[in-house]
Amino acid sequence: MLILGIETSCDETAASLLEVKNNKIKVLSNVISSQVKLHAKYGGVVPSLAAREHVKNLPKVLRSGLSKIKLEDVDLIAVTRGPGLVSSLLVGTAFAKTLAWKYKKPLIGVNHLEGHIHSNWLKPLNESSASDEFSFPILNLIVSGGHTELLLMSGSGKYQLVGQTLDDAAGEAFDKIARILGLGYPGGPAISAEAEKAGKPAMAARTNKFRVKLPRPMINSKNFDFSFSGLKTAVLYLVRDLLKNKKVKKPDNQTLIEIAAEAQQAIIDVLVTKTIKAAEKYKAKSVMLSGGVSANKLLRLELEKETIKKKIKFLKPEMEYTTDNAAMIALAGYFNYKIKKEKTDWQSVSVDANLALI
Ligand code: KG4
Ligand code: ZN
Repeated sequence: MLILGIETSCDETAASLLEVKNNKIKVLSNVISSQVKLHAKYGGVVPSLAAREHVKNLPKVLRSGLSKIKLEDVDLIAVTRGPGLVSSLLVGTAFAKTLAWKYKKPLIGVNHLEGHIHSNWLKPLNESSASDEFSFPILNLIVSGGHTELLLMSGSGKYQLVGQTLDDAAGEAFDKIARILGLGYPGGPAISAEAEKAGKPAMAARTNKFRVKLPRPMINSKNFDFSFSGLKTAVLYLVRDLLKNKKVKKPDNQTLIEIAAEAQQAIIDVLVTKTIKAAEKYKAKSVMLSGGVSANKLLRLELEKETIKKKIKFLKPEMEYTTDNAAMIALAGYFNYKIKKEKTDWQSVSVDANLALI
């Protein structure tokens, strides 16, 4: 079966062709047109500009995503219907609905977070993976620019929300802290690059080598919820006081590195601690990481280390599927089509910007 995936929930325009044959999953193409440069000068995504770029880029991305295959040969179209920026989602779904109507193909609307979870089943281009190689229950840590959730997955399409952020998402915290530090957008890669300048292990913060100390919000709370807005405010006050006391306009390079490293470590400490506690409580056989923040090398490393200690299997997506892509949407669409037998007429797909997974 050939599935065409389309993703436009935020600032990446993406199309992918996925093949599922004899229980084997193969990504045949994974095309992503990123708008990062466009939005960087504004310090974050500008919704109206993002939608305009999607309109411009979707036909090109689709052409290169399909390359040797004709739309007539596709068996299913899967498109992100939420959560995300409403104007971006509208462009992608309108485009996908038109294709489905014109070529008389089934169309399925996909939850973006369910897509991120499925990024873990994807192997690099043209390599096959089995669709049933994971043992449940799986505890999912989904960390992106808009979400931070712990979801227990007891089988395909069966989710239970275990915890979530009460305010900012982990990726949002990276982005906002990077902005305060003048490190640019997107903040996650910028902060980790800055932190890496501290040398190895970058996390000298842990060994008290750094003067900068930041809070680990809710790390000891009894539930599995998160809160990151206080951390951002702590960085804001730290920088404000520092500039006032030293009578300077910006922190010196070493201080900047220390704040970036300590902020990154604070976010990772909270994420790892709570995920491991939840995995133990719910007797998860595996811990699965996904979402844009899963590209963070230190988070991958530390979560892996802690799961090994607890003898829990650790799964993380290939780097090319960590941030927004359409291959993950195609696969989640395929499972919903096969297992949940969701509606697939083009009229039934509607945008929901705040779509929850459960
Ligand atoms: O999943 P994603 O591509 O888009 C959303 O669905 O939100 O995630 C984007 C988020 C941004 O907040 C970005 O700063 C963060 O993922 N991110 C990272 C890294 N790469 C991307 N955060 C930490 N470390 C990274 N290496
Ligand atoms: Zn995402």
